Amino acid sequence: MIPVLEPAVGEEEIAAVVAALRRGEISGSFGTSIPEFENSFADYVGCKYGVAVSSGTAALHIAIAALELPHGSEVLVSASTNIATGLAALHNNLIPVAVDSEEVTWNLDLDLIESLITPKTKAIIPVHLYGHPVDMDRLCEISAKHSLFVVEDCAEAHGALCRGRMVGSFGQMACFSFYANKILTTGEGGMVVTNDFALAEKLRLLRNLGFTNPRFRHEIAGYNFRMTGYQAAMGVVQVKRVDELVEAKRRVGQTYQKYLADIPGLVLPREANWAKHVYWMYAAVVEPEFGISRDELANALHMQGIETRTFFCSMNAQPCFREIDGFRDRPTPHADRFWQQGLYFPSSVSLTEEIISNIAMAVKAARPQ
Ligand SMILES: Cc1ncc(COP(=O)(O)O)c(C=O)c1O
Repeated sequence: MIPVLEPAVGEEEIAAVVAALRRGEISGSFGTSIPEFENSFADYVGCKYGVAVSSGTAALHIAIAALELPHGSEVLVSASTNIATGLAALHNNLIPVAVDSEEVTWNLDLDLIESLITPKTKAIIPVHLYGHPVDMDRLCEISAKHSLFVVEDCAEAHGALCRGRMVGSFGQMACFSFYANKILTTGEGGMVVTNDFALAEKLRLLRNLGFTNPRFRHEIAGYNFRMTGYQAAMGVVQVKRVDELVEAKRRVGQTYQKYLADIPGLVLPREANWAKHVYWMYAAVVEPEFGISRDELANALHMQGIETRTFFCSMNAQPCFREIDGFRDRPTPHADRFWQQGLYFPSSVSLTEEIISNIAMAVKAARPQ
């Protein structure tokens, strides 16, 4: 089976993890690897501070916690995203409100934002879906006009650019994931980056149970979301390789574009002229004109040993959100359609042109002749 993603972890990462273990960096409390990883990654993004945590979910959780929003405030979130984006609101006693997707980039539709804002709306979490950046210049303009905090969810978009500027450097904070299938990985892991010193300090407290002085007396109710030193040691190596990894992702994306072009009913990702897409996953939408449904295509590919995954279920349709007191039912027809019709293909950086062309042939062969 060709998996949707095989992590790009080499001998250098393995050696770095072993060396960190030999130095005793087994927890999240000691050693040099964590600050080194935080500094090098924040620097790459173009931010002053990085706070490494145990996952992208934890990064989003403490980023939203650090804003200290009144209970019951509304947080706008991209409709089409991993549940973690909405959970950051829910677990902070806030209400996630889904912003439907637009047709071109599949990201949140910026034209809808103002119509969704109420006096309770305090923040927005835009997601750079599958590696295509949101138009952050325009989003920040709208957010500033309405005094909304912006927390970018960059879990899928390490290295993506909006008009030449790195995603993650636009909002008050930005959250990255280093899960095993992400562009950079530490196995599990995440980071919040920010230019705000006070926020960075608060995030460090929230990540570490609110430990201050005297030890064991806690002013704030924090979490244990620490990353281990040996994970950070792996992250340091991955940051050194980031340009190579991002360019390899783009090569995979562009190779798919070439071999899947002009198949009726198969809508491919597009790269806006102001954007650098990093193709975290190479995704497509299966329209009726394709001749068989998305699920039928996925099954046909599975029979050929090719793994695929569906797009995300809309945040507006998530049963766990619909139960929240004060939930606002805002229809998300585009995201609902992508959930039914979208899928993504194997996207590992190790894929050769030959494998990608074979996958494309299997896609074409699945269509009724
Ligand atoms: C958009 C998005 N946000 C958040 C997350 C959560 O990251 P993690 O799996 O590291 O908790 C993910 C992915 O897994 C994601 O794709």
